[in-house]
Amino acid sequence: MAGKSPFEDLKEEHVALLTEMNELQSTVRGLMGGEAGSLGGGAVLRDELGMFQRQLRIHFRREEEGLFPEATRMISEGAQGADVFGSFFGEEAEDDMSAHAALARRADEMLDIAVQMEDAGADESSVQKLRALAALTSELLQRHAAKEDTLIFPMLEKGLKPDQVDQVSERLKEIGSDRDLSDQGSPEEGGLTQLGGGSE
Ligand SMILES: [Fe+2]
Ligand SMILES: [Fe+2]
Repeated sequence: MAGKSPFEDLKEEHVALLTEMNELQSTVRGLMGGEAGSLGGGAVLRDELGMFQRQLRIHFRREEEGLFPEATRMISEGAQGADVFGSFFGEEAEDDMSAHAALARRADEMLDIAVQMEDAGADESSVQKLRALAALTSELLQRHAAKEDTLIFPMLEKGLKPDQVDQVSERLKEIGSDRDLSDQGSPEEGGLTQLGGGSE
């Protein structure tokens, strides 16, 4: 296997997402600084949120379409220990995907508020709501990334054979990364957990 492992790639994306999330939180804290109205009507926040949402979208797609199918195949082919591993992974993957959906919803909600702010200015109650949403999203993201880094990825790293790891790498290359997104115009839709579906 040449190059970096797909797990290293995905872990680096966690670091990038968490950094982005920190920046978002400081922008939201800036909104609380008494000069809420002077923040360009939420445009800065809207741009940051747009970028965060795109990064989330592609990262989840890479896991759901790049990594998990290979793991599922490995289990169905009955690799050594696959029975124990299979039921465990089945639950974890489901848990992981519902966390993706929850995170995507929070990002959508924040973006909706930021868009409203851009039109109507930042009122106190929107700012409060954003602050709460940002804190919650940050918590969720940290917990989610830590679980993948310390539990799910190591488990898959141990279970997948080298050629299966190569398959994952190939698939991730096909899907692309957030680094490619800026050259792509709008990100591809499809197959993804409730992203961009609006908030209810
Ligand atoms: Fe994930
Ligand atoms: Fe992840």
